[in-house]
Amino acid sequence: MNGLVRRCSCLIILLATGLNVCLADGQAGLQIPSASCEACHGAGGNKPVSPETPRLAGQEYDYLIAALLQYRNGARQNPIMGAMAKALDDAQIRDLAKYFSSQRGLTEKY
Ligand code: HEC
Repeated sequence: MNGLVRRCSCLIILLATGLNVCLADGQAGLQIPSASCEACHGAGGNKPVSPETPRLAGQEYDYLIAALLQYRNGARQNPIMGAMAKALDDAQIRDLAKYFSSQRGLTEKY
């Protein structure tokens, strides 16, 4: 149990630091730290680093909003995404959902 707690807090510190670095980078035109998401979900949310990491590209806007709100309020439990979502405010969640849902990916949009 102790080991697990230690590992989790390490991960959270790591993620928080990563997020700051990405925010400091400042991406042109994007007010959101989407680069910090792309570290795991891949460029445009289209190339996840592992089989447990879902593709976000082309996912429905409403689904992405719902998923991020659930991670943030704990209704959906995941140590990684819980930590990521807690750092986001409503506007960032909307921007990220807009960004990833508008990428070509899971579904073709016309
Ligand atoms: C350290 C790796 C990592 C980072 C960084 C990360 N994610 Fe995730 N993400 C995951 C994993 C792993 C899952 C699957 C978790 C689960 O099983 O619920 C996931 C799941 C999700 C889901 C649910 C997708 C679905 O199909 O249900 C969304 C939405 C999401 N992430 C958005 C984001 C956003 C937005 C960011 C950036 C703010 C981000 N993620 C950053 C690893 C990451």
